[in-house]
Amino acid sequence: MAGDKAVAQVWASRWIFILAATGSAVGLGNIWKFPYMTGVYGGGAFVLIYLFCIALVGMPVMLAETLIGRRGRHSPVVSLQNLAVERGASVRWAWAAVMGLICGLLILSFYSVVAGWSLSYIIDMGKGSFTGISGEDAGAAFGALTADPVKLIIFHTIFMAMTAWVITRGVVAGLERALRLMMPLLFLLLVVLLGYSVTTGHFMDGVRFLFHFDPAQVKDGLLPALGHAFFTLSVGVGSIMAFGAYMPRRAPIGATIITVGLLDTVVALAAGLALFPIVFAAGLEPGAGPGLMFVTLPVAFGNIAFGQVMGVVFFVLVALAAWSSSISMLEPAVAYFSDRHAGGRVRFTWLLALICWVLGIGTVLSFNEWAELKFFVTGADGFALWAWGAEGGKTFFDLVDYLTSRIMLPLGGLVFVLFAGWVLGREVVREELELKNPLFLNLLLVLLRVVAPLGIAVVFVAELLK
Ligand code: PFF
Ligand code: NA
Repeated sequence: MAGDKAVAQVWASRWIFILAATGSAVGLGNIWKFPYMTGVYGGGAFVLIYLFCIALVGMPVMLAETLIGRRGRHSPVVSLQNLAVERGASVRWAWAAVMGLICGLLILSFYSVVAGWSLSYIIDMGKGSFTGISGEDAGAAFGALTADPVKLIIFHTIFMAMTAWVITRGVVAGLERALRLMMPLLFLLLVVLLGYSVTTGHFMDGVRFLFHFDPAQVKDGLLPALGHAFFTLSVGVGSIMAFGAYMPRRAPIGATIITVGLLDTVVALAAGLALFPIVFAAGLEPGAGPGLMFVTLPVAFGNIAFGQVMGVVFFVLVALAAWSSSISMLEPAVAYFSDRHAGGRVRFTWLLALICWVLGIGTVLSFNEWAELKFFVTGADGFALWAWGAEGGKTFFDLVDYLTSRIMLPLGGLVFVLFAGWVLGREVVREELELKNPLFLNLLLVLLRVVAPLGIAVVFVAELLK
């Protein structure tokens, strides 16, 4: 992999890293996935475990990725290989980054479908289809959208093309600059939604649902919460590692990643606080699944002043946030392949996007034609890899989501923290973080070497014993 070019110039300031990492982190994971998973797993316990996983596992992995990226100054696979050689360790460590590339592509395949739903909702909002709508009718509207594979494929195609286009044109930086404006606007609209939620008379129901701790729910929520902590922070893939390669030598890594982690968490909690009161006020089901945001938001925007305009703006912002996340899923794979074969960047981008697009068709169909096709079925007559019309099991979408968030991301993250903590080791961590205080350094090393890996291992074991 000698063709890999060193990163020629380093980003001007750490703000660009913050922007890129925040653009990657804040996305559908916060506004769509976090609320629906909280609903599915019953509320408070899931949220609490999620917050613990962010602090004790997700942030250490982000630290590890940024360290490795900045030290390696190449794309993730090559950085890991070079650093491993330098430290006299096996180059096999780099396989984690290869898995990360594949994981990014798998995530993109369904992410693009859901982003496509947002595109469709921009149009429906603009047409005023949701004015005065009830929860029930909003549910029916979402059902009608997901029942229509052709429509879903059209919007999935548009979104995937948007993602590939940005990467081929190399206008990633432009999109990130745009996000500097969009993010505050997104935040403002979340606050407006929160305002609406307060007026529904069910605000406290929402708060209670989000923060009431029920120990009985812990067992089922552990792995999902851990997986979602990885997903929402964009860690375990190598995206953050790829950005880390551009980070200036003297930029403070710690303060920088804490900013990113806090922004991501605040957006997720704000989305949850905005959506759940609407769920309860409109008599909807918290555990409704992936449609939760697409059913509650029309109710809110359909029933407030200027809701039509704000609704359009909101879904535009969601699509933009999804866009900046999706490019960070595709870019590492494109960078890897085009580094190895000079001049092929545009072709690789479209080829990889095509692969994701085809996989995404599976997700599209899992909401309609293939709704009865289940994978990993454990039923009365044993285990089946797939079966039609089985009780339980996972749809194609569930399967891809499961493989990525619950298996590949935590495993990738595990390797990254172990590499940073044990292979790079004390001296490198001290140097990179410019830590003068030995107590602080020891604390961080314990996080990287023990706490984060053990956290992942414990959750995996608990899941197996469940
Ligand atoms: N963090 C993104 C979100 O919350 O929407 C999703 C994501 C982006 C996951 C990039 C993985 C990734 F590499
Ligand atoms: Na996120």
